[in-house]
Amino acid sequence: PALTPYIDPLPLLKTIDISDGKQIIVGAYKITQKLHSELPPTTLYTYGTSEKTATFPGPTLLATRHKPSYVRWENHIHDSETFLITDRSLHWANPKRGGVPIVTHLHGGELESTYDGHPDAWFTASGETGKKFVTQNYTYPNSQPSALLWYHDHTVGITRNNVLAGLEGLYIIRSPSEEPKHLPSGDYEISLIIQDKQFWANGSINFPDIGDSPSNHPNWCPEYFGDTILVNGMVWPYLNVYPTKYRFRLLSAANARFFNLTISEPSLKFIQIGTDGGFLPFPLRLSSLTLGPAYRADVIIDFSGITPGTKIYLNNSAPAPFPSGDDAFLTKIPSVLEFRVIPKPQKVNLPSTRIPQGIIPVPKPAYSLKKNVHRKLTLTENDDDDGNPLFSLLNNQRWDDPVTETPKLGSVEVWDIINLTPDAHPIHLHLISFLFVHQQEFNQTLYEEEGCSLEKPFGHPLSCFIEPPQPAKDEQVGWKDTVVLYPSKVSRLWSKWTNREGQPFPFDATSGPGYVWHCHILDHEDNDMMRPLSVLQ
Ligand code: C2O
Ligand code: CU
Repeated sequence: PALTPYIDPLPLLKTIDISDGKQIIVGAYKITQKLHSELPPTTLYTYGTSEKTATFPGPTLLATRHKPSYVRWENHIHDSETFLITDRSLHWANPKRGGVPIVTHLHGGELESTYDGHPDAWFTASGETGKKFVTQNYTYPNSQPSALLWYHDHTVGITRNNVLAGLEGLYIIRSPSEEPKHLPSGDYEISLIIQDKQFWANGSINFPDIGDSPSNHPNWCPEYFGDTILVNGMVWPYLNVYPTKYRFRLLSAANARFFNLTISEPSLKFIQIGTDGGFLPFPLRLSSLTLGPAYRADVIIDFSGITPGTKIYLNNSAPAPFPSGDDAFLTKIPSVLEFRVIPKPQKVNLPSTRIPQGIIPVPKPAYSLKKNVHRKLTLTENDDDDGNPLFSLLNNQRWDDPVTETPKLGSVEVWDIINLTPDAHPIHLHLISFLFVHQQEFNQTLYEEEGCSLEKPFGHPLSCFIEPPQPAKDEQVGWKDTVVLYPSKVSRLWSKWTNREGQPFPFDATSGPGYVWHCHILDHEDNDMMRPLSVLQ
């Protein structure tokens, strides 16, 4: 259906303070909610403390650094199966008694794997559990620096269905002593969850049920792209702003779509002060902001000089698939959000806020290719005989192949990830934040014809590299837990298997069912582009 943009106000997300150390119960429920005033109510699965309070997106959980919080996750979805079709040819939960399996992962959280939401730790409303299930009572140590995290479903084989159905919400860790002073706060700090969906005229989510390679995977499609953008669960909303600075905390919760956001008023910039893992060392002034799936960006936009009455648009120009696809939907939906600059009422005193300069230093990634573990890993896409995507793999291993990524507690690892596919993949590691070292483009055709070597440095006559190593792009800097890895490049990631200060984790990272790393295009993750990851003593 053609929906009129910018007629509904942006919903502000409900928050729940979980810093008092008392357990809270967050359940998954089936609800209906209006996502646009011209659209009938949409059936969704979402989180809430009760069926009545469940909303899409789920409540924002507010934690405080060094104060553990306790969440009991419950499943109150009584459908016999998910309303977004399950492709049973993938590795998936497959509960014998039916039901909709769920398991919640705190994305970006540094915590014991027992509470990490392992894909096989799912459970249904009737109490059936996956083979790695331990408990529904999760402990979050909140020992990491201040950051915007998010929680979402992570069930093996149906994460894309459950997240598209609405199982996601924000989780903010605050740390008053380390946060820059005088940031816009209160009414001037606004969280924005951006994602795309497609709807039928009756309001239900349009999720394709015929696969691209139906004889292999009857329903699975390589990427879900919607033709409609939602912010905080509303299609193309508008937001009234006063002429002052706002802090926007953005999450891209899209299944597969990338965003390249721009502001229609050229005098305005995104002043980015933070990313997935927390604050950047200093603000970046950007005219465009690239967000891969699962990306977070902490940005200030300063409307101070704008004449009230002006309308300003947050637009999107990212091709789909990214970075060089030609998804026809894109041309119809460059728009995301409308800012309406309105005069400040007499009684409102605009706060005096500042853009921080030096924020929190981020270390230089120090390593030795001789002394540290140096992994070389590939991203590949496998097609069927007709050239239709079948599945994508990490280092040519399937999800159920034995674990191979086994970093030792306290160690530094260097991962060179060779992207042999035509698309960018947002690669996500659980447990830690890592740093992007560099990336280097190579001649993929020649490499595939075995006419050159990635072992030879740039400049060597047999080298595949066509450039010297290039630094991180804007969307790759800072502490990252998910990073865009571009096609035909070897990207080097640095990780240290400690907490951010280089000290041991305040929990046992070697116990429990273990962690995972995967592509955060959920359609890829669900179809084998995910691997186990175990931390060893
Ligand atoms: Cu946001 Cu393993 O996921
Ligand atoms: Cu991928």
